Amino acid sequence: MIIHNHFDVNSKGHLTIGGTDAVELAKEFGTPAYILDENVIRENCRTYLRAAREHFGADALPLYASKALCFTGIYKIAAEEGLGVDCVSGGELYVAKRAGFPADKIYFHGNNKTDRDIADALDMGVGTFVVDNCDELEALSEAATRRGITQRILLRITPGIDPHTHRAIMTGNVDSKFGSAIVTGQAMDIVKRAIAADGIELAGLHCHIGSQIFDIEPFSDAAAIMVRFIAQIKAECGYEIKELNLGGGLGVRYTEYDRDIDYAEAVKDIATVVKNLCAEGGVKLPKIILEPGRSLVAAAGATLYTVGGVKEIPGFKNYISVDGGMPDNPRYALYQSQYTALIANRANEPRDYRATLAGRCCESGDLLGENMEIQKAKRGDILAVLVTGAYNYSMASNYNKLPRPPVIMLKDGVARVAVKRESYEDLVANDVI
Ligand code: LLP
Repeated sequence: MIIHNHFDVNSKGHLTIGGTDAVELAKEFGTPAYILDENVIRENCRTYLRAAREHFGADALPLYASKALCFTGIYKIAAEEGLGVDCVSGGELYVAKRAGFPADKIYFHGNNKTDRDIADALDMGVGTFVVDNCDELEALSEAATRRGITQRILLRITPGIDPHTHRAIMTGNVDSKFGSAIVTGQAMDIVKRAIAADGIELAGLHCHIGSQIFDIEPFSDAAAIMVRFIAQIKAECGYEIKELNLGGGLGVRYTEYDRDIDYAEAVKDIATVVKNLCAEGGVKLPKIILEPGRSLVAAAGATLYTVGGVKEIPGFKNYISVDGGMPDNPRYALYQSQYTALIANRANEPRDYRATLAGRCCESGDLLGENMEIQKAKRGDILAVLVTGAYNYSMASNYNKLPRPPVIMLKDGVARVAVKRESYEDLVANDVI
């Protein structure tokens, strides 16, 4: 077992992913390639659904935050597993629709929905809009009224929580670009407007405090603030909030220095706090929505690369260059995110070499990690970066005109192409002159 149970080493000394030899996968599908163990994703979906229902009640629903990994097949998995989804753009809505995802179980997010986004989502029959601000509320109210419909919404509320994660992925603080803050009075203002707005049914509230969070405390703190706010709405407006979406954000184990979170336990702990708070505050337990992204898909993934060369700069550092980099995984360049890497064809050897993993772009910041523990490498080796299922493919670009890698899904020992490797023709498909 390496970091997670589905990563292991076989008798040839090769890395296996869900029991399949990673070196064989690289041979069959080429590199770079994203590999996904579908069984892990499905198991995670089941864990969340079971725990949510058990601890919050039968109507509780986890949504898959599809920004973490978005392609047609993933919506089919979410639908089959009985989850809802969080979509954040017209593009994600389009893919969900293409996959046949039930529109009534889609929650439409985003801090700046365009008129076209709003129109498309209404035409599609999206179940719930998560409204970010008063301008959006007004635009939605007008569009819904024009169509003669009443649109169900949640309001995105900023609880004012600092969850101690990377600044760029922290969203629950008062000065966030997302939502309306309680302390400034803007949250109560938008609640009152939503209650009064034509074409709008205010079903509930949403908060999301950030991502890659390992402690339960920030979630409980946010939940406490939200439950208090629900009580305040009842007292001030006589209005009952029926649904509370607690967002996503639970962390994932990327390296042996990270803890492994038991998501069922985490849901149970948050539920205990929420139920106690509701009882104390005289608030009826609302329908609870959870919105995990990373914790459903990250661990399922690994990226396979081919080593192009090793450069040792005496007295400084060693570089291992691979045939991908920041275009397929920008997370080190953006957040200095830490990963576990290994040489897949010699995975049984000790990781006693220190190296910086360099991508192939014309940019010094194009790194997948620095000072990483790995086996000594040589040209032609297959290098695997583990736990790349979330925010890799979905954040990939064509920088330096590198085609995006394919997504290969493994299920019970069978490998299928879920997303094809981009071709050079794909890279010019939209070039008009
Ligand atoms: N709900 C909302 C409203 C969100 O904004 C997000 C993530 C989620 C749910 C899911 O959070 P998760 O369970 O995945 O932590 N690109 C960054 C992460 C950005 C997260 C954005 N919002 C990264 O690569 O770390």
